[in-house]
Order: sequence, then structure tokens, then C-alpha cells
Amino acid sequence: MELFLDTGNIQEIKELNSILPIDGVTTNPTLIAKENKRIFQSVKEISNIIGEDKIIHVQVVSSDFEGMMEEARFLNKLHKNIFVKIPVTKEGFRAVKELSKEGIKVTATAIFTAHQGVLAAKAGASYVAPYVNRLDNISGDGINVVKDLLTIFKEYNSNCKVLGASFKNAQQVLEIFKHGIQSVTVPADVAKSLMNHPLTDYSVDKFVSDWEEVFGEGTKII
Ligand code: E4P
Repeated sequence: MELFLDTGNIQEIKELNSILPIDGVTTNPTLIAKENKRIFQSVKEISNIIGEDKIIHVQVVSSDFEGMMEEARFLNKLHKNIFVKIPVTKEGFRAVKELSKEGIKVTATAIFTAHQGVLAAKAGASYVAPYVNRLDNISGDGINVVKDLLTIFKEYNSNCKVLGASFKNAQQVLEIFKHGIQSVTVPADVAKSLMNHPLTDYSVDKFVSDWEEVFGEGTKII
């Protein structure tokens, strides 16, 4: 299972990359714009932290086919292991098909139905990214879209991976872990809620205080 951080924030990436076994970073125009840096600068800084072999998913901003192609070719050169995110609009589907022919690795994004994911995989996308929370927010069922995609890709022996995206809480992530998702991308707060538990902290504090009561404050095992 691959774990990505969904952020363009360098401090968050530095902190979480030093703690968690992350496979890379996903960004989108909103996340990059929040940092107010040029895209090449952001990608360079992220690459320096996570290393050139790790994956960076970067999204185009253009919404027309020619613009998407031009931006994708540019983004593809910014890091050794780039996956260019293309939203699955009509123009986007066309770009996924053409970029895949050129050998540029594509992550089809802004996916809200299994149908979109299947078509993107057939067009050559390496990953499809269904947006779980955004769908849940409008009374849809994001987990179900993920489950359908996993079932269909398995049925067809597809190499395309499902990259679960847009999470707001640890429970949503747990639900799709249960269905054997290949990849998830989580923002920093969700990454932290996946690893933290107050009882873990409480237990550790208790171990230390029990130890120190007998052996003295600040004493170690060795
Ligand atoms: C996916 O790749 C997107 O960057 C992202 O997960 C969207 O998440 P949001 O709904 O939290 O903005």
C-alpha cells in the first residue's frame, strides 16, 4: 500500500517525511497556490526533501487540451518520478490518452464516479484519484466509488492503481484500507490522526513515571 501526503507545504512534508514511510507527495493547484511559490520551486523543494526516487503528483492548471499537453510536458521534466495529474473533463480525457502515448505518466484526478475511473484507466492513466470526502459532502458515497473501482480493476486485471483522495478523517481512510486500496493520499492533519492516539501517549507517560518512581527521575535502561 502506498501512502502519499496531500500538501504543498514544505514544513509539513519535512516533518511527516521524517516520521512516516511515505511514498511521495500529491499536490493540486489549490495546494501549490496556498504556498505562493512557482511550481518548479515547489517541486524542487519537495524533491529535495523526499528524494528523487519518490513520486510527486503535480496537476495542470489549463483546462484546454493544448494547454494541458504543454503544461504536462513541462511538469514531467521537473522531477525524476512525476505523475501529471489531469482532471477527467472532456479535454482531460483526450490529454490522458495522448500523454500516455508519449510515455508521460498520468494520474487522472477529480474522479467522482467509477465510470470516469474506468475510462481514465483505459485511456492509459497509471492512477485514478476518486475524491472521497467531496463526494460524501454532497450526500454521495465516496467509499463506494473506491470499492467499485477496486472490484472492476481486479476483474479486468488492470495495472491502474486507485489513489484514494480527499479525506477529512481517519475513519474514511480506514474504510478503504479494508478494501485493499493500493494508494491513499492524506493531508497532514489526517496523517497525524492515523498515527496518534491519546491512550498511546497516556500509556507511555505511565511507563516512564512508574520506572522513575523506582529508579529515579531521568534514569534510562542502560
Ligand atoms: C487529490 O489528489 C487532491 O489533491 C485532493 O485529495 C483533494 O482533496 P480536498 O477535497 O481535501 O481538497
